[in-house]
Amino acid sequence: MQDKRTSLIHHPYVPPEGFAAPQPGVFRASTVFFPNVAAMRSREWKDKTGYTYGLHGTPTSYMLEERLATLEGGVQCLLVPSGLAAIATVALSLLQSGDEVLIPDNAYGPNKALAQGELKGWGITPRYYDPLDPQDLARSISPKTRLVWLEAAGSVTLEFPDLPEQVRICRRAGVLCALDNTWGAGLAFNAFDLEGGQGVDISIHALTKYPSGGCDVLMGSIVTRDPQLHIRLKLTHMRLGLGVGMNDVEAVLRALPSMALRYREHDRTARVLARWCQARPEFAQVLHPALTGSPGHAHWQALCGAQEGRAAGLFSVIFDARYGAAQVDAFCDALRLFRLGYSWGGPISLVVPYELAGMRQSWPAHLARGTLVRFSTGLEAVEDLQADLQQALAALG
Ligand SMILES: Cc1ncc(COP(=O)(O)O)c(C=O)c1O
Repeated sequence: MQDKRTSLIHHPYVPPEGFAAPQPGVFRASTVFFPNVAAMRSREWKDKTGYTYGLHGTPTSYMLEERLATLEGGVQCLLVPSGLAAIATVALSLLQSGDEVLIPDNAYGPNKALAQGELKGWGITPRYYDPLDPQDLARSISPKTRLVWLEAAGSVTLEFPDLPEQVRICRRAGVLCALDNTWGAGLAFNAFDLEGGQGVDISIHALTKYPSGGCDVLMGSIVTRDPQLHIRLKLTHMRLGLGVGMNDVEAVLRALPSMALRYREHDRTARVLARWCQARPEFAQVLHPALTGSPGHAHWQALCGAQEGRAAGLFSVIFDARYGAAQVDAFCDALRLFRLGYSWGGPISLVVPYELAGMRQSWPAHLARGTLVRFSTGLEAVEDLQADLQQALAALG
């Protein structure tokens, strides 16, 4: 008879096989057992033929990776602790001292901050291109360019680029392109199958937003189609020791089946509110790719079609220049349902005022001058959100 301390750990009971339920089990591990030394020596960690160590995956993370790869139209997927970690992993994997990286001027801010900070410090030169001018991208590519970032729609100002043309330009130049596909969520368009069958090389996604859907998980993914590129990224991922918690993975697996429904609802609400704002005299400009006249609207329509469920629940307004920043702050403070907070894709509508001047190389010619506020729509009733905007506009004075 073993000591109880030992039998609490080493117990012969094995539950029957064949348990089947809608939601997969949560397998958490650092240590993974091997039946013998030969298995320990021969087991491969780089593909999904077995298990070696928690950092390299458990059945739970394998399942999410496979589902995300399918969603995005890719083949392989890596999970990382945040959307920003996905951006950083791609940069660290593909760039070396002396290289150049091209980033659209409306890219997610921390992508640019990483480039201005660590990447510059390591001798990598970032260059910023106009997302609405493919020729500017073409001109910016040099023999030193190793990576081009793409984003559709762009962060905060939501310009929609001519993505197929941007990809064609990268292909012609023989440069890898990586898309921040958080806005499209794998639902608005197929990043790996753009017009003409060409697609991006890498799609990164902040799972923090729509896939998690609850404002309570941070995670990112890196999806590829090319096995060699995947292995290159996977080696960097391993060397950086990037892991994700399996309870978080399970939360995303749980939310994924309803993502398309939620995304369509976020989209529907955003379009109703954006159109309502367009008719209000307080706003000089409303930015949403589905609005005629919004920068890049035609590109969005060509790639995504106009139907609901093909745009994220984000729109921005630029207040008429007669309203100062303090008045716009008062408007944001007066909102009751739209809560002040970063991120998007969860059930709660959010609002953030931005200092656009400090975020762009120069004030884009296609944008009116004024204070910009970005809204992300949650899953509340659109009538209540509209009433909230209306009552807060009264605070402008
Ligand atoms: C377009 C875009 N990409 C990436 C990220 C980063 O995601 P995370 O917050 O998970 O780091 C964000 C977050 O706001 C984002 O808006």
